[in-house]
Amino acid sequence: MSRMRVLLPVAGLLLAIAGGSQAGQPPDINYQVHCQGCHVPDGSGIPPEVPSLVADMGRFLHVDGGRAYLVQVPGTANSPLDNAEVATLLNWMLVTYARHDLPADFRPYTAAEVARYRAERLLDPAARRGVLLAQLGSGGRPER
Ligand code: HEC
Repeated sequence: MSRMRVLLPVAGLLLAIAGGSQAGQPPDINYQVHCQGCHVPDGSGIPPEVPSLVADMGRFLHVDGGRAYLVQVPGTANSPLDNAEVATLLNWMLVTYARHDLPADFRPYTAAEVARYRAERLLDPAARRGVLLAQLGSGGRPER
């Protein structure tokens, strides 16, 4: 039973990624074109300026506001990608770089959800990031 609870969301996520990639460029290509200049190919970033997706991205899904944050950071929100492409890209990034931190009840992003979060502008990403990480009990990240 508990195994199904873990496996079903992952299966749904893979289906969502496969389905979503039919529109526009596939997410791995979008990552290469729009994100990896800063986040680098293996997602490890350029700390402390660009955080590691491997270390932190999945952790935000465990705190209120974290799901919105992943959409509202400037790199995501201001990309030229449409909402469906962003949803597919974030789902792909989470599975590729942060699978180890996905909650058991993880639900993939949808275009509608991305649209909702994207409509709200995040004025101070670094501050929001610090607040969310502090809520996770990590004590936040070192000052930049
Ligand atoms: C110009 C450099 C740059 C580019 C390009 C970029 N990002 Fe980022 N990204 C950052 C920085 C810096 C942060 C830390 C938050 C902040 O200060 O904006 C970040 C944070 C994030 C986070 C939250 C992770 C965390 O640990 O805070 C996500 C998700 C993210 N970016 C997604 C993307 C996506 C998706 C793209 C491509 C469509 C992208 N980024 C392109 C620099 C970049």
